[in-house]
Parts: sequence; C-alpha cells; structure tokens
Amino acid sequence: MNILVTGGAGYIGSHTIIELINAGHSVCVLDNLCNSSRESLQRVEQIAGQPVPFHRVDIRDRAGLEAVCSEQQFDACIHFAGLKAVGESVSLPWEYYENNINGTLILVDVLRKHGCKNIIFSSSATVYGDPSIIPITEACPKGTCTNPYGWTKWMIEQILTDLHTADNSWNIVLLRYFNPIGAHPSGLIGENPNGIPNNLMPYITQVAVGKLEKLHVFGNDYDTPDGTGVRDYIHVVDLARGHVAALKAIDQNCGVEIYNLGTGKGYSVLDMIRAFEEVNGVKIPYVIEGRRPGDIGTCYSNPGKAAEALGWKAEYGIKEMVRDAWNWQKKNPNGYE
Ligand code: NAD
Ligand code: WQD
Repeated sequence: MNILVTGGAGYIGSHTIIELINAGHSVCVLDNLCNSSRESLQRVEQIAGQPVPFHRVDIRDRAGLEAVCSEQQFDACIHFAGLKAVGESVSLPWEYYENNINGTLILVDVLRKHGCKNIIFSSSATVYGDPSIIPITEACPKGTCTNPYGWTKWMIEQILTDLHTADNSWNIVLLRYFNPIGAHPSGLIGENPNGIPNNLMPYITQVAVGKLEKLHVFGNDYDTPDGTGVRDYIHVVDLARGHVAALKAIDQNCGVEIYNLGTGKGYSVLDMIRAFEEVNGVKIPYVIEGRRPGDIGTCYSNPGKAAEALGWKAEYGIKEMVRDAWNWQKKNPNGYE
C-alpha cells in the first residue's frame, strides 16, 4: 500500500516507517517538525537503506496538503501528527484543540477530496479516563479526561466515528496506545523529549546518563502491590508493528474499529526502576513524592482483540524495553542534536 504518514518524523512515527518499509509498503512522510527534526528521518533512511520521501507541511495548511495529495494517490493515512504533552495542554488548551482537532479536520477533508477514506489514528488509553474495567478491553466505556490533550484524542475519535456514520465508505482504525517506551534496537532512533521529560522512561534514562540528578516517584499510596502507579509499557517497535497489522483491518473494509495496543502486563514505577538497574547495571537514585495531579493508580490493557482480529501481539518484554531505551540514550545523550 502507499501510505501517507503524518507526524512521521516523531518518536512513534519514525519507528513505524521502518516497519512499514520492512513489510513492503511505500510511505510519504508529512511533518511540520514542531517537535522533531529532519535528523530522525535521515536515521530512518540509514536503517531502511532507502530514501524516505518527506514534505515539511503542517496538517492545518490546506494548500500544502492539497499539493502532496495531488502528486500521488494514497491507499491509507496513518495520522500521528499532533501535540502530546499533557501538562503543556493544561496551560495551552487553545493551542492543543486548534492543532490537534482543527488539523485533523483539515487533513480528513483533503484526504476525502482526493479519494482516500482510510485512516489509522493514534489514540490513547487516556480516553478511558479512570477505567471501570481492569484489564481494559475496548468495550470499557470512554471516561472523563483530566486534561485538554486527552480530550483532543477523545473528540477526534468521535469526529472520525461520525464521519463513518454519515459515509460508510470510510474505514477508521482507532489505535489506543498504552505506554510506549524503548527505541529501535540499532540505537539510531528513539524518544527525544524537549526539556525535562514528563514521562517515566525518558526521565529514568536522563537520570542514568547524568543529565538529571534523581527520579521523583509520584506517589506510593495507590492501591497497587507496592503503592506506586502501574502501567502497561509497550516497546515502540511492537507498537509500530501494530500499525502495519492495522492495515489489514483497512484492507478488509472494517468500518470503524478500535484496538488497544498494549502488552496486557502492568508494571509499577518501582518495577521499572529495578528492571532498568538490573538489565543495564546503572543505579537510578529516586525519592518518593506526592501524587501527580490527574494520575490514576492502575492502567493496563487486555490486548486480546488485536491478537484475534489482526494477528498482532507484543513480542518484546520489559528487559528489551529498558535495554533499548538505555542503548538509545547513552549513544545519543543529547538526542538528535
Ligand atoms: P511526537 O511529538 O514525537 O510526534 C508527533 C509529530 O507530529 C512530531 O514530529 C511533530 O513535529 C508533528 N506535528 C505536530 N503537530 C503537527 C502539525 N500541525 N502538522 C504537522 N506535523 C505536526 O509524538 P509521538 O510520541 O511520536 O506520538 C505520536 C502520536 O501518538 C501523537 O498523536 C500522540 O498524541 C500519540 N500518542 C503518543 C503516546 C506517547 O506516549 N508517546 C501515547 C498515546 C498516543
Ligand atoms: C507513568 C507512571 C507516573 C514520571 C502519559 C499520558 C498518556 C500517554 C502516555 C499520550 C505514572 C510515574 C512518571 C516521573 C513518576 N500519552 N512517574 N515520575 O501518565 O501513564 O501516561 O503518557 O497519549 O496520555 O498521560 O505516563 O510515563 O508520565 O507515567 O513517578 O517523573 O510513572 O506517576 O505512575 P502516563 P508517564
């Protein structure tokens, strides 16, 4: 298939391009580079051993999108482009709604005008809010998000679903990611957060490399085995392969389908520190602090639907995740700089 990949220069997009190419698909990448750099795509080209067509275009730029979609016919779009920092979305709600929602509206409008009504969207387990079922199945109702970022995912899922209700020639796959971590085993590409990381694994790797002094563990009074938050961490390469598998659903005219992309296993913050220390032989100093506002105690998936319908299952375990996260960080202490 010929796939338009929005946000393809970013963390998950760059890993997905490699898996798409490995599976024999052709790709065209579109990104405004607001949270990424051209360098990530050059590294992707190095791994894939072939050039990756790239357009520096904002998804809110209708004319720019028109130009790309007029040049070639796309069979599907994998839509990663968006702003994703939870805390920032609380202080910049307008910017998050405008970029993520307005951007998606313009993108889908241009796509449909050019006859591409197949879209795979990067959603998030955050749409479950504080989940009523653990492990979380896709039947678990969407909940109340605690920040504008989460609401953009919630609303875009609704917008795409409504498009299909009105016009059933759309095929929409909503992929709800759990907690992606790790990096390509080559150590050439990985997660490159701006400033101080918000997420656990990049914070741990920056402590390990000496850029940060210690990890702050947000709460040890949750109703979990050791009191710290439990999450479903998934290797980014497994997550990337989940997108290749999701193309099967598109191929079978799926209508609207939702899939959890997780491993089905929950690990606590202390489990993650221990695994990182044991596998990599690096000590992670930490202090226990109060809970982070908006956090929940436990969140992990039942990934059975994706296994059954798409034949996709996460293959990497926690050891590979912490190994590859550290391999990337130590080879690239300053990311792509
Ligand atoms: P990322 O920031 O590394 O990648 C997103 C890319 O989109 C960046 O390269 C950025 O430059 C680009 N972008 C942003 N706004 C754009 C616009 N208006 N036009 C064109 N390009 C634009 O983030 P990521 O971690 O790779 O996440 C990819 C997608 O997956 C995002 O939609 C994110 O919300 C979603 N997601 C991420 C996680 C996670 O933990 N990383 C979890 C669940 C869902
Ligand atoms: C994991 C655990 C923290 C940092 C977020 C978004 C979610 C999704 C993925 C995009 C929690 C604890 C963390 C630290 C800590 N993103 N922690 N010290 O909160 O599960 O999910 O990223 O869609 O929408 O909310 O991930 O990595 O921030 O936290 O103790 O410095 O680690 O409290 O228990 P989270 P995370």
